[in-house]
Amino acid sequence: MPGANSVTSNQETLHKDLEEVVRKYARTTFLRPIADHTREAFAEVEEFVRKFYATRNANNGTAPRAVILDSGCGTGESTIHIARRFPGIPVIGIDKSCARLNKAGNPSQTAGEDIPANAFWIRAELLDFWRLALDYVKACKWTIPYHAVYYPNPWPKQSEATRRFHMHPIFPTLLALGKTIELRTNWEIYAREFAEAARIVFEERAKSADAIAKGDSRLLRLRSAQAPAGMTDAAGMTIKCESFDPEKPETAFERKYKEARQKLWRVLVALPQ
Ligand SMILES: C[S@@+](CC[C@H](N)C(=O)[O-])C[C@H]1O[C@@H](n2cnc3c(N)ncnc32)[C@H](O)[C@@H]1O
Repeated sequence: MPGANSVTSNQETLHKDLEEVVRKYARTTFLRPIADHTREAFAEVEEFVRKFYATRNANNGTAPRAVILDSGCGTGESTIHIARRFPGIPVIGIDKSCARLNKAGNPSQTAGEDIPANAFWIRAELLDFWRLALDYVKACKWTIPYHAVYYPNPWPKQSEATRRFHMHPIFPTLLALGKTIELRTNWEIYAREFAEAARIVFEERAKSADAIAKGDSRLLRLRSAQAPAGMTDAAGMTIKCESFDPEKPETAFERKYKEARQKLWRVLVALPQ
């Protein structure tokens, strides 16, 4: 499509501060207070998940409930595709834009079929929603087998780099949330930075695990604040960064980029199951 411009940036390779910034945030906890409206949104999601399993007489809450997140879902089209891929699991599309979410589930997205019963959209701030979700994962109330982060704003100006998810203090939370995270982007540098940032966070976790084994209690406190119980640091974790050509676009942005023949990139970060 004319108009889907490829990303232009004054940055030609990985950001010079990537490693320093990511290591710093891997060792700290993001403490900004959580907004009330996102707490309310989270409670709505929790209710949807509970009812979804209750109506199927499945998972009465004694085992963690599987939940899939579609973060920054925009107009919500990807939520429908993902919900069809995982029919037995609630799929939550989250976005802060009311205007975009108002388009979710419209007939052009469903191709005449019903909206899948496991799809749900909510307006919320991701930086807060992810921390509430991590509390649920740590408390063994939820498990997140798949987390879609499709085409986040790339913030391509070098001066705005710390707004990229992987250079923000939220990144360790994002990585701790899901068993498999899939990031899609039309900017190769964003994909490569995301993959490298994930590698650095897991390296930091491995170091702190090592220090804990040697009895450093300060690191033990920090690590338990960030990682869910049972999370196995770097061991067995895989990070794959590759270009790909989706047969059928799954999001509005993906369609625009594909029609404009832009190269698309994805990063898969997978923890051992
Ligand atoms: C470039 S759009 C991509 C939308 C969709 N994934 C797609 O591919 O069509 C990025 C989306 O992320 C949302 N977003 C960005 N930062 C967010 C945040 N902190 N909390 C919630 N939504 C956010 C924006 O509102 C926007 O809809």
